[in-house]
Amino acid sequence: MIKRDITDIRLAASGRKRIEWADNNMPVLRIIRERFSKEKPLRNLRMACCLHVTTETANLAITLKAGGADVRLCASNPLSTQDDAAASLVKDFGISVFARRGENNATYYKHIAQVLEHKPQITMDDGADLVSTIHGKFRHLIESIIGGTEETTTGVIRLRSMESKGVLLYPIIAVNDSKTKHFFDNRYGTGQSTIDGILRCTNTLLAGSRFVVCGYGWCGRGLAMRASGMGARVIVIEVDPVKAIEAVMDGYDVMPIAEASKVGDIFVTVTGDINVIRKEHFPKMKDGVIIANSGHFNVEIDIAGLKKISKSDRLIRPEVQEFTLKNGKRIYLLGEGRLINLAAAEGHPAMVMDMSFANQSLAAEYLYTGKSKLGKGVYPIPEVIDKKIATLKLKSMGIRIDQLSKEQKEYLASWEMGT
Ligand code: ADE
Repeated sequence: MIKRDITDIRLAASGRKRIEWADNNMPVLRIIRERFSKEKPLRNLRMACCLHVTTETANLAITLKAGGADVRLCASNPLSTQDDAAASLVKDFGISVFARRGENNATYYKHIAQVLEHKPQITMDDGADLVSTIHGKFRHLIESIIGGTEETTTGVIRLRSMESKGVLLYPIIAVNDSKTKHFFDNRYGTGQSTIDGILRCTNTLLAGSRFVVCGYGWCGRGLAMRASGMGARVIVIEVDPVKAIEAVMDGYDVMPIAEASKVGDIFVTVTGDINVIRKEHFPKMKDGVIIANSGHFNVEIDIAGLKKISKSDRLIRPEVQEFTLKNGKRIYLLGEGRLINLAAAEGHPAMVMDMSFANQSLAAEYLYTGKSKLGKGVYPIPEVIDKKIATLKLKSMGIRIDQLSKEQKEYLASWEMGT
């Protein structure tokens, strides 16, 4: 039976067309869907998915269903749900969805519980909230769980922490660690969609601005590259000395956040860690600065601290909160500090989500058809699957590449030949 808690089923018609639009740029997922429809590798599988409910995710859910899975979907962030996509999934595709854009924390967790009532055999997470909830109040579900998958860096970090403390009780495939995921989704996806979110809600000019990127992981690199490409003067904040050197040699200024606070115009956090921009930094900032977060959770900016030192705040445009500090300066916080690419834009383009969600589909198949020979722990997706996705993607782009000759393969496998 299809169950739901969504904003408005009447939005389905618009959602359906947008899902089709996304599908136009998801050729690898389409190939997998066509095979799944014939072979039904996920037959009778109960799945709980906690993902951003977007048109791209809709195509993933449709693919899993085509493979035979009985899917329930909830949101992995209260602000990222596209209500029309949710409505179409329910109405047009018969998939149970529990997600409303703007839901509060209590509803967010109620929806997770509704997805878990399904007694999933496989969990699919973006940020590890399903896994952490199961390991808390829903431990009775663990014995029937075959495994899970995790989409994002933050989730993988949480899961590795559970693994190292010996508390993770089932196997997880770290989809984020696939090359065809993080090289593209994290770098080019986050790079573009973060800028998209900032521009949609502020219409600010990037050219000539001092654009502060906090964190130089794959997401930070993509963001710095794209901001720079639009003429911003990029400053990178980083704690890892190796990454900091890379940022310098990539041509950016690198400095501590305390110094960047005095000169930046736009600040974006993408570290995955807590309290990166803190109470002591806000008063030093210039009047009118823009602050946003593109990391998974809304913990990177100390919003409670910002409220404490402000004399007033108001919503000046959708997703733009103006805080007036006691010293008179104004600070513009975007999207309540939640990931700005999904709060104010549509997330990563379908073209990159194609590879991420090809990984998710094939990881689910790998777990289910292997009937989990894997023990508890966090595992990468097998390299052959990663390579297969890359090959299909290149083919779909109409790009051909060379193959190693027999002689070249032998040379690479030999040690005798030198100069
Ligand atoms: N994460 C980032 N962008 C996304 C999108 N478009 N759909 C689902 N998850 C995402």
